[in-house]
Amino acid sequence: MSDRLYDVVLYGASGFVGKQTVRYFADHVSPEQVRWAIAGRNRQKLEAVRDEVGVTVDVLVADSQDQRAIDAIVAQTRVILTTAGPFALYGNALIDACVRFRTHYVDITGETPWVRTLIDRYHAQAAIDGTRIIPCCGFDSVPSDLGTYLIVRRLQELGLPCKQVKAYFQAAGGFNGGTLASAFNLYDSQGLAKMNDPFLLNPVRNQTQAEREQNRDPQLPAFDPNLNIWIAPFFMGAVNTRIVRRSAALFEDWQESYGTDFTYQEYLKFEEPLAGLKAMGLTAGLALFMGAVQQPQVRSLLQPLLPQPGSGPSEQMMNEGWFSCELIGTATDGRGVRGRIRDQGDPGNRATVKFVCESALSLALQIAELPGGQTRGGILTPATGLGEVLAQRLRRAGMTLEIDASVLD
Ligand SMILES: NC(=O)c1ccc[n+]([C@@H]2O[C@H](COP(=O)([O-])OP(=O)(O)OC[C@H]3O[C@@H](n4cnc5c(N)ncnc54)[C@H](OP(=O)(O)O)[C@@H]3O)[C@@H](O)[C@H]2O)c1
Repeated sequence: MSDRLYDVVLYGASGFVGKQTVRYFADHVSPEQVRWAIAGRNRQKLEAVRDEVGVTVDVLVADSQDQRAIDAIVAQTRVILTTAGPFALYGNALIDACVRFRTHYVDITGETPWVRTLIDRYHAQAAIDGTRIIPCCGFDSVPSDLGTYLIVRRLQELGLPCKQVKAYFQAAGGFNGGTLASAFNLYDSQGLAKMNDPFLLNPVRNQTQAEREQNRDPQLPAFDPNLNIWIAPFFMGAVNTRIVRRSAALFEDWQESYGTDFTYQEYLKFEEPLAGLKAMGLTAGLALFMGAVQQPQVRSLLQPLLPQPGSGPSEQMMNEGWFSCELIGTATDGRGVRGRIRDQGDPGNRATVKFVCESALSLALQIAELPGGQTRGGILTPATGLGEVLAQRLRRAGMTLEIDASVLD
């Protein structure tokens, strides 16, 4: 692969998140270290982004539906980073080419039914070839997946087999039009029913009814008397929990198990004043919105009022946003450890851009240090494909990722 012209190509670089990946590379990557280019379907828009950011990089053009043009880009690079979504609409040719040309791949999808189709079509070949195809490297699902990985490994270092990890999220930020477009595409393609399967992304799905019951998504807000806080279902939980379970299952296959009967669950956490009311209000409001946008007439009324593809929160809103993911791992003997991942900046933009760019740079610069060594491949997850290397890179990029040294009794 060293004969390839580029180390990383940023595909979808003219989109709302795509532009921010260009800025991130311009600000954080030296051209002597990483040879990178930008790509997408519209040369004019891409050149405008390049000029606005003020970088001298090549511009490559291919519509996502033009397999030949996509092949020409993928064959020239060691890593593809794509932000062109809905991924179920714009991601297929890229993945197909990455598997054929053995080009590593990261994206920021949260479209788990689409990820399932990738597993069925490409996992076996990519595993044989050692090609790392890693979807869900944005806010969904890096904090959940990498946080769980760090907690479990810390418990194991202490000689404590892990039984469960729970994550508690708080976040502030805005919504991108592209995210809403992806959600609507999921509804329209009957993806929601598939997303209900708690083991949608597991290699084998022959779990017992009891296991399915044990891993069911939380439905209602509740007061957690152990932690003395109000919690509610986290709206990204149906994505993140499936990724964490895929990581656990893949590690199990590789004899690096998280623990027998390991479970993972995540929640939104609410603080006083009025924590209970906030938890109930948000859960009810979200259920109402989800129900409403699935009615065609209501959606046609609402859609023009919502952010459109290509748009997103203001600079000020993105700078003022933040997220916090607190994790608690419990061992089989009841002892445990706590950890946290936090950063300043809108999770769907600032944090997502940091997550996905550092994921691509892990592949481009540190492939030999990644978990599983040079030969690991397949449709992987952030934890199984990038692991500790990504954690270190994110820390160096200013993000808080810490696991406490003390053990909870
Ligand atoms: N994981 C996370 O936390 C997270 C956070 C934010 C967003 N996302 C996801 O990321 C995706 C992008 O979000 P966004 O806000 O950046 O959306 P966006 O601004 O609408 O960008 C969409 C991108 O797709 C490109 N595109 C559209 N049709 C194409 C085609 N036929 N061929 C090639 N490219 C095409 C657009 O190109 P043009 O510029 O030429 O139109 C643009 O670059 C969405 O799926 C969203 O759900 C995930």
